[in-house]
Amino acid sequence: MKGIILAGGNGSRLYPITKGISKQLLPIYDKPMVYYPLSVLMLSKIKEILIISNPEYIGFYESLLGDGSHLGMRIEYKIQEKPRGLADAFIVGEEFIGDDSVCLILGDNIFYGQGFVQKLTNASSIKEGAVIFGYYVPDPRELGVVEFDEKYNVLSIEEKPENPKSHYAVPGLYYYDNSVIERAKNLEPSSRGEIEITDLNRTYLNEGKLKVELLGRGFAWLDTGTYDGLANASNFVNTMQKRTGLYISCPEEIAYRNRWISKEELIALGKEYEKTEYGQYLLNIADEF
Ligand code: DAU
Repeated sequence: MKGIILAGGNGSRLYPITKGISKQLLPIYDKPMVYYPLSVLMLSKIKEILIISNPEYIGFYESLLGDGSHLGMRIEYKIQEKPRGLADAFIVGEEFIGDDSVCLILGDNIFYGQGFVQKLTNASSIKEGAVIFGYYVPDPRELGVVEFDEKYNVLSIEEKPENPKSHYAVPGLYYYDNSVIERAKNLEPSSRGEIEITDLNRTYLNEGKLKVELLGRGFAWLDTGTYDGLANASNFVNTMQKRTGLYISCPEEIAYRNRWISKEELIALGKEYEKTEYGQYLLNIADEF
């Protein structure tokens, strides 16, 4: 399975913060936002990743993550000229995906919680169809919304409905078989002029091939779409890391625990940031495990 991080868009809802920088490079406490979705793909054991962003910003991602070899991975980059919609990721990424299945994660979605790795492992084992997630929110009107029966069969999926049929929002993490490329190409733009991920998911639903996995109580799916959301996400990461002594979404640690890099390589990465708590954390991990 391959992975795509969609990190484009114009970030206009966060102006002026994002007037001169890509939203997904903003700090969430001690790391750039894109580390969080990158970590989710790594926890799914996905080693080949494509990062998609705007022409202005793609170079920043390359400076940050290079070819991924320091993490034992392969990272490629591709430009999305205009924000044509989330489903455009599969058109821009067609060549990269090749004959594989693919996981898409939005570059501004942050996930954290116990049992997540098992859920990711289940989702990434799909051979046919699609897997989406459902997360309870009090008011899902600004999000994709999924309705399902007591056996978790999906009944409907809607984008930003005025009258939501459930309280379950669909986070920006999706797993697909290879047919997603052709399905994306056949989508018509919505009233907001985008090819919608929800319309794509509906093509699977209509064929009985869409599964939903719930992310339960105690699980955190953090919003980074507003000033408060950004600040709260940073505070959350700070609090959790200080309290547990373990980092949330540290790609170097995950690469090491996945055995994609050796202890010596982890130590070399830690030494690069030796003067920071982050660097010291990497050195401690190398020492303890
Ligand atoms: O965050 C989850 C939600 O993301 C889902 O519940 C919705 O079903 C889904 O449509 C999407 O809703 P948003 O309206 O929040 O998506 P937005 O247009 O804000 O785009 C999400 C991120 O993807 C954002 O950081 C910018 C980036 N993006 C967006 C578009 C449309 C791109 O990189 N390229 C694009 O073409």
